[in-house]
Amino acid sequence: MRKLKSWFGAGRAKPAAPDLPVDLLSDAFVADPAPTWAWLRDNAPLAPVKSGGYVMTRAADIKAAFTDARLGNAPSRFSMLAEKNRDRYVAADVAANIPPFLDKPRHVDMRKPLSAAFFDTFDGAEAWIGPLAEAHLARLAGQGPQDIITGFGRPFATQAMARFVGLDHDPAAIARATGALFKLFAPITDRAGFDDVNAGLEATRHYIAGAVAARHATPGPDLISHLIARGGLTDIEIGDHALLVLADGIENIEAAIAQVLIRLASDPDHLAALRAGEGDIAATVMEVLRLETPAQTIPRVVREAHERDGVQLTEGTPIFLALGSANRDPDLHPDPDRFDPTRDHSGVLMFGQGRHRCIGAPLGQMLVTQGARALVDRPFTLVTDPARITYHKRLGHRWPVDVLARID
Ligand code: HEM
Repeated sequence: MRKLKSWFGAGRAKPAAPDLPVDLLSDAFVADPAPTWAWLRDNAPLAPVKSGGYVMTRAADIKAAFTDARLGNAPSRFSMLAEKNRDRYVAADVAANIPPFLDKPRHVDMRKPLSAAFFDTFDGAEAWIGPLAEAHLARLAGQGPQDIITGFGRPFATQAMARFVGLDHDPAAIARATGALFKLFAPITDRAGFDDVNAGLEATRHYIAGAVAARHATPGPDLISHLIARGGLTDIEIGDHALLVLADGIENIEAAIAQVLIRLASDPDHLAALRAGEGDIAATVMEVLRLETPAQTIPRVVREAHERDGVQLTEGTPIFLALGSANRDPDLHPDPDRFDPTRDHSGVLMFGQGRHRCIGAPLGQMLVTQGARALVDRPFTLVTDPARITYHKRLGHRWPVDVLARID
């Protein structure tokens, strides 16, 4: 019944079976993960992954996993990032400070002040984010075909996040810092690569420490100042939180803004309705985030051995929760491949759910929505053929590479 609903109900061709273990970095998967997700949901909802571990694809299973105490976020005790290694490796020390790598009780201790300081900072952000988006887009007007990611989404998100966090607007230093943090989330494959991760994080901590010292001396309406004011965290913990927030607010945003542009360009009636003030830009953004979920998979680690879907899971096994699949699961979203901004978005999972749910979701939505609003307010033409858009080979993320557009 489930198969009939998802294959024929949505009017799609029957998806071809991927090779198992599934390669989440294969060219076909990176180009379009949706057919693989559809096949896995119907045939192997907990499937082995080529790089190790398993991927979970059904929305109901993923929602249950968010509250399953047998799955956690802390690196396995066999990992270089395990807490016991924090005195040996900067990478393990950073991981031991930031929520995505923590289980309770430390997760609660670190997330609570970060979440409180986030909302202190978020109040009033809309007043400057909208004009900032418009100013960045205006720079591209009349310039001929420009990459909307490096020309608009990235500089806009970088400047917005620098201001939000409380850093000087230095795009090159910020790119180095976010690059260093993202390496912490990639699988560690060799010693030289791991040395590189540690060196990058060491330099980044030094850079962020300068901003923390500056905010001690001159507080502002920014995240670092609010973290200092709330107290209870060391300066290193404040710096690591600031780095996490900075990094989380750039690539996902630039990717989502590019996806909104691609969608609006391919749906002139919807764009015309938005321009006429008849549609809801925020709902359009939510629907684009559902269909083109930037964080396709999020990692968990088996904390306690157990059996699941006929698979015996041992402690330390990575489990990838496929949010991109859950967001197209017909059991959760009827006719899931159809773009429909009016659908109920209350159950969508692009920001996760439960104790690790994205702290920055309201800011993420606001940044993308203000980027989208700027696009709606200006005539633009998509230059890149949508069928030729390529995606970064980044485990867990769906981020387009170049999206050329002309802004008038
Ligand atoms: C469209 C943009 C964004 C998307 C798609 C996104 C998505 C996500 C996802 C899927 C998670 C993991 C949830 C889990 O593991 O259960 C997450 C965690 C997180 N996000 Fe975002 N995010 C976005 C923007 C932001 C922004 C702007 C911030 C800045 C404040 C932010 C801060 C965080 C933090 C701090 C966490 C870790 C929460 C924890 O582990 O307790 N995100 N995000």
